[in-house]
Amino acid sequence: MKIGWIGCGRHASAMLLPQLAARDVTIEALCDVDAPNLERTARRYGVRAIYADARDLIGHAGLDAIGMAVGPVQHAAFGAAALERGLPIFMEKPPGATCADAQRLMRAAERAGKPLLIGFMKRYAVGNRIARNVIASGDFGRVLAITGRYMTAPGYFAGDVDHTGFFLHHCVHYLDLPAFFASPIRGLSARMVENGPGRLLFHMGLDFACGAIATIEMGTVQSRGGPVERLEITGDHQRLEIDDVIEVTWRRDPPLKAEALDAVLDPAHDALTWKPNFTAAAAEDPKGYGALLSDVLEALAGRPSSAPTIEDGVCAMHWLEELRRTLDR
Ligand SMILES: NC(=O)c1ccc[n+]([C@@H]2O[C@H](COP(=O)([O-])OP(=O)(O)OC[C@H]3O[C@@H](n4cnc5c(N)ncnc54)[C@H](O)[C@@H]3O)[C@@H](O)[C@H]2O)c1
Repeated sequence: MKIGWIGCGRHASAMLLPQLAARDVTIEALCDVDAPNLERTARRYGVRAIYADARDLIGHAGLDAIGMAVGPVQHAAFGAAALERGLPIFMEKPPGATCADAQRLMRAAERAGKPLLIGFMKRYAVGNRIARNVIASGDFGRVLAITGRYMTAPGYFAGDVDHTGFFLHHCVHYLDLPAFFASPIRGLSARMVENGPGRLLFHMGLDFACGAIATIEMGTVQSRGGPVERLEITGDHQRLEIDDVIEVTWRRDPPLKAEALDAVLDPAHDALTWKPNFTAAAAEDPKGYGALLSDVLEALAGRPSSAPTIEDGVCAMHWLEELRRTLDR
């Protein structure tokens, strides 16, 4: 598969292009407006066709698909242009700057009859994926509730506080991930506290179609130097705990043990726990970018895949806008 890639910035360079290049694809052409960075990236991956204008890259002959990690406004514009040319797309989140952008992309993908996949890689982080598989196995029973925390540090310009980037780039993940564990979101409430300009903390309540409820805490008041993410998924006498997207514990229904002299650890009832071995010399990507891209490549090739689609993107953008409206009230 020959891929044309737009955006050679921090995220593409650190996470996406290395994972893409490790798979059975050719990065055929690259585009960025930052010429030194574009040339550096082209050298790294041996790409000869480079473009400063995304429309020229989209017009490059012989491409099978387009990938992009640029930004909200560019995703909407370049996505529309690539679909107009009949090319399937992988696009980082967010799929546009607004829900209306995402809806336009969804309609363009329908018209073109081509898949448009979105970079909701948290679904693929190993702890989250294991938890989802436990739920899908049927052994967990009904998901009743989710509590979660997904924090970051202040992302604003002093004197000109603007949380738009925080909502579009950070919060959008948690308008997708909880639904992946439960079912589509049907209602949202939120309340917030601020600790000075740009220092925001809010609790978001979600209601799901399956009847489950969630409380998610997000904000800009924690350091990015330590873990900022934790999820608990509660069922009836069952609980899944996911720390830092990679460590997972499945708690079930063990008997009291303190006074049982013959107590053992019972594989059918006691907690099961797992975390990755970071000392293994294996090119694993526990955060999920590699697993996401494997699934995305299946979809781009027209094969069955569970990669997140623009329909998922529209849902997340809809509830993201509802969240902002609720907090602004
Ligand atoms: N899923 C994730 O975990 C994750 C993590 C980080 C970033 N992202 C997403 O990836 C996207 C990029 O983020 P980033 O941190 O790499 O940003 P960045 O600013 O480092 O990279 C963007 C790149 O796009 C280039 N660019 C800007 N306008 C362009 C244009 N008109 N034509 C061609 N190139 C253009 C810039 O020069 C830059 O190199 C964002 O949408 C962000 O939300 C996702």
